[in-house]
Amino acid sequence: MNNSHGEGRVVALVPAAGQGVRLGENMPKAFVPVGGSPMLVLAVDGLIASGAVDEVVVMVPAELVDETRDLLDGTDVPVTVVPGGAERTDSVRAGLRAARDASFILVHDAARALTPPSLVSRVVAELRSGVKAVVPALPVTDTIKSVNDAGTVTGTLIRSTLRAVQTPQGFDADLLRDAYAIGIEATDDASLVELMGTAVKTLPGSPLAFKITTPLDLMLAEALMDPQESVRA
Ligand code: CTP
Ligand code: MG
Repeated sequence: MNNSHGEGRVVALVPAAGQGVRLGENMPKAFVPVGGSPMLVLAVDGLIASGAVDEVVVMVPAELVDETRDLLDGTDVPVTVVPGGAERTDSVRAGLRAARDASFILVHDAARALTPPSLVSRVVAELRSGVKAVVPALPVTDTIKSVNDAGTVTGTLIRSTLRAVQTPQGFDADLLRDAYAIGIEATDDASLVELMGTAVKTLPGSPLAFKITTPLDLMLAEALMDPQESVRA
């Protein structure tokens, strides 16, 4: 099916079914407000504001499906809400089942609530130019070491070759479906595609696409949402 932005529909899957254990608030993380709006709402608004997304599928804890439909009522593009699963991979798989007619799929963490719409449109532009898999990436600032169970260092990775990857991650829809058919767990979607031997391209990420994971991240996000700051572009 085609659409107004070019050939092939873009469906964005938004995993929002995590518990937010590391954040430690008294509700699932995606529902924690930042600047007065739940992270999930900010993330979906950012996807839609890009003008590059035709449909959104949100995966939430099963008991919050109805509440989420109400929260996201009246958006400019259709939003489908489905129950997620025990692990992030299970949630994305549930979203994939609900994403029919997609030519291109974005997977975008609700917890990256401040992601600039311009990053979303850059990912989609890569997909439309024929790239099969693309992830936003930033250089790593800390030196990264591997350790054993005792906490003793077993190696130091070469920092210049390392990148921290973000979302939205973009994929040819058939490729992502094939990757998920492998049936293993991963913390990001691109790693499943890498296992299939398909090249994954990086594009420059955004500091604002950081994942709100800890209480310190939430404080940073609140400060960035301050109306006087106005940094989200
Ligand atoms: N997620 C999901 N389903 C799960 C686990 C995670 O949809 N079973 C989503 C989260 O809601 C979040 C994104 O995946 O938007 C990234 O996960 P993470 O930051 O780890 O969030 P949580 O799992 O909620 O946090 P924690 O690991 O601290 O419990
Ligand atoms: Mg988690």
